Amino acid sequence: MEQRGALGRGKVILLGEHAVVYGTPALAAGIERGVRAHAGPSEETTLHVQPWDVTLRPGGKEDLARALTAVLDAHPSELPPLSIHADVALPAGAGLGCSAALGVAVIRAIDQAVGHPSTDAEVAERGLAWERVFHGNPSGVDNTMAAHGGVAVYRRAAPLEPLQVRTPLTLVIGNSGHASSTKEMVAEVARQRSRDEARFEKTLESITILVRNARLALEDGDLIALGQLMDLNQNLLAGLMLSTTALEEMCGAAREAGATGAKLTGAGGGGCMIALTEPDRADAVRAAIEETGHDAFVAEVGG
Ligand code: PMV
Repeated sequence: MEQRGALGRGKVILLGEHAVVYGTPALAAGIERGVRAHAGPSEETTLHVQPWDVTLRPGGKEDLARALTAVLDAHPSELPPLSIHADVALPAGAGLGCSAALGVAVIRAIDQAVGHPSTDAEVAERGLAWERVFHGNPSGVDNTMAAHGGVAVYRRAAPLEPLQVRTPLTLVIGNSGHASSTKEMVAEVARQRSRDEARFEKTLESITILVRNARLALEDGDLIALGQLMDLNQNLLAGLMLSTTALEEMCGAAREAGATGAKLTGAGGGGCMIALTEPDRADAVRAAIEETGHDAFVAEVGG
């Protein structure tokens, strides 16, 4: 990945995905892996994305072109034609917030090119216009974490609450290799809600309690408790039909190799899982996940 240029971070959800769409808090963290973008004057506005090798123009019908149009329209000042290049170092459709990272990197690259200073909150806000093109009903957690980074409690329509983490968390991120659509997974959860609202409300309440306790565990530096809470969150997500055989295999392998907890992260139905581990177990946990036949990498969050 090109290291220069404006950064949009990838993110992981430590606990609380899907429930966050219904207004409950989620615990999320930015990761350094993400998207870098830069922009410069040109005769016409284009967005070129590597390694996908696609070039888009505002006004096009593709989702990416519509997202580009949305962020150009949302810019507070008149923009000259710009040539924008983005390098994506995240798997798409994998629960790591790839589309939001791309949106935030593009927004920052545009700001840098025209000398328009923006706060992280303003970038996140404009990133929501980008996200709305891809996801029917985004909670806003992806674009917010892509802009802010760190570890934080995110709640829809509320100010982000950054958390002071005593020691950085070591996570191993395993990728099932099956892309899934966040829009479809969110719609699937909505269908389950309409089928049995009382049961769904109970699940939401349980996830809310897990997130509250996870926040305390994180602030106390209690990795054992945090891991256990992640495992419990995984059970509830599996109950919502969001887990898959590959995700379960990777979570199981990670726990056997000494991870304190493991769960899917993001939309589920494929995509990635995260395992929380002591730093000195990270290589063993990564190797155990890789032995199930899937890619994995180690990420530190909250440093
Ligand atoms: O799969 P991702 O990285 O787009 O994460 C989606 C998180 C959800 O809670 C499932 C949806 C949302 O909008 O918050």
